Amino acid sequence: MSLCLESPVVHSVDFVGRKTEAQQLTEMLVERLRAAPFVREVCFDDEQGSWVCTLANGGRGRLALAAPADPAAVADRTHRIVATFEKGNLRDRTSFFQAVTHLPFTDSEMTAVTSELPLTSTLPERWPDKPLADVGLVLTIHHMRDFLVLVNSLVELGVDPAHMTVIDKEYQYANSRRVDAHLVQRLGITVWRYRDLRAGLEDHVSRVTAAGKRSIVMDDGGYVLPMVLRELPESAGHFIGLVEQTTSGIRKLAGFGLPLPLFSVAESDMKGMIESYGIADAAVRNTLRLLPDEKFEGQAALVLGFGRIGREVARVLDSRRMRVAVFDADITRLVAAHEEGFLTGRSLTELVDSHQPRLVIGCVGSRSFGLEQARLLPPRSFLVSTTSRNYEFALDELREGSTAVTDRGVLGTSYLFPDGSEIVVVGHGMPINFHFAESLSNRYVDLVMAGLAVGAVAVAQGGERLQPGHNLAATNEILAESGIVDAYYQLYGPAITTATGSGHG
Ligand SMILES: NC(=O)c1ccc[n+]([C@@H]2O[C@H](COP(=O)([O-])OP(=O)(O)OC[C@H]3O[C@@H](n4cnc5c(N)ncnc54)[C@H](O)[C@@H]3O)[C@@H](O)[C@H]2O)c1
Repeated sequence: MSLCLESPVVHSVDFVGRKTEAQQLTEMLVERLRAAPFVREVCFDDEQGSWVCTLANGGRGRLALAAPADPAAVADRTHRIVATFEKGNLRDRTSFFQAVTHLPFTDSEMTAVTSELPLTSTLPERWPDKPLADVGLVLTIHHMRDFLVLVNSLVELGVDPAHMTVIDKEYQYANSRRVDAHLVQRLGITVWRYRDLRAGLEDHVSRVTAAGKRSIVMDDGGYVLPMVLRELPESAGHFIGLVEQTTSGIRKLAGFGLPLPLFSVAESDMKGMIESYGIADAAVRNTLRLLPDEKFEGQAALVLGFGRIGREVARVLDSRRMRVAVFDADITRLVAAHEEGFLTGRSLTELVDSHQPRLVIGCVGSRSFGLEQARLLPPRSFLVSTTSRNYEFALDELREGSTAVTDRGVLGTSYLFPDGSEIVVVGHGMPINFHFAESLSNRYVDLVMAGLAVGAVAVAQGGERLQPGHNLAATNEILAESGIVDAYYQLYGPAITTATGSGHG
């Protein structure tokens, strides 16, 4: 009997669809594997009911379309692709699993998602004259399923998919690979990774310029325009406008004279007043999901930054029965937090020392908490960020001040200090509402997605109202005129009583 020294490595992807969709998706996957340079051949093994992929380097992978053993535990019509890497080197293993997980959504899945974003998906009906037909688009919106509905609407509004470029921010969303596969394989859109941003922008500008068009940027975090203005100034004239959806993006534009109109969904009333609660709630929910065995009720929490998101996070934690302290570097915000009943202090370090928070949630948008404060935390405490990328906590300082730094998988990274106490930076310091999750529910985020599309149409249509620079008043006006907030209120507002009965309008 031969000894198996290496265990096979298994990955499974669940998807929902009819049987025919499941078969089609699997066949397409098999064809892609056949065409992949690292694969020598793919044959069906009748005995095992699976495909055997012989790899060019002599390795072997196996693929099966399976049914879940416990249908009661999964959604109706769930199918499971099970991929097993049986032998071969690490590089082949990575390539094999990357190919298998690059699986677009089925029509059934897309129909369901589309129905969850009624505002975004019906926008093209408002502008049947295809106002985006003459522009290209660069998009750095999160790789989540809601984004695909936005992209479909943008295409229906006239953008040629060949003139779109998506920058993948490389966060670990729940469905990153599938969203990517859908963009590339189903919609024919070019995707560049965040780490290759500059090359992606150069490629986009030359592709779209060759078609005689100029482009609009739809950004989420100020990734594109600062790079264009700093590193590719000769391309600045290619862009006719910017739609930005987050305040950190607005901050990154400070100091640049904006040569084009900014449609600031980020600063709009709609976003600040409606979405911040959702983000806070999603951040806290995902934190609790990652820490199911902790008990936070009655314990001390600290919120960094009492801005739009921080204020809502503090309220959500309070409603979950935590004892919440707030620190903000701005005295007016600090007073507001104090008057809302939160414990506050002028010195962050003293506040940490006296309050002893077990949960710290950072909502500042830039570095706000370092080793000096982390060392004062009680044992088994958790740092959580809502800020873009991993900017909120001084992770380099924590690393330097630790005797051991351990990757805890999906939970995050733990830091062991010389005195024996250990803290965990949950989700490795990345914004927690996206960490193996999809942040807001689709019906909630629908309003913001629709707002982005409204912004792109307004920029493409031009006109007097949007001038180079910030256009906050015009953004609020245009969003209000678009009727999307009214439609949202009709969908989720109070029941409308009519003469014949009652119900939602
Ligand atoms: N996770 C998400 O889905 C998501 C969505 C939007 C924005 N964001 C991120 O959240 C950040 C905050 O967004 P916001 O809209 O609440 O911003 P905001 O400007 O309303 O709030 C930031 C707060 O931090 C305070 N602050 C600044 N420097 C500080 C410091 N060193 N220490 C303590 N407080 C400080 C400010 O005074 C302000 O009150 C953004 O910068 C962005 O990175 C995340």
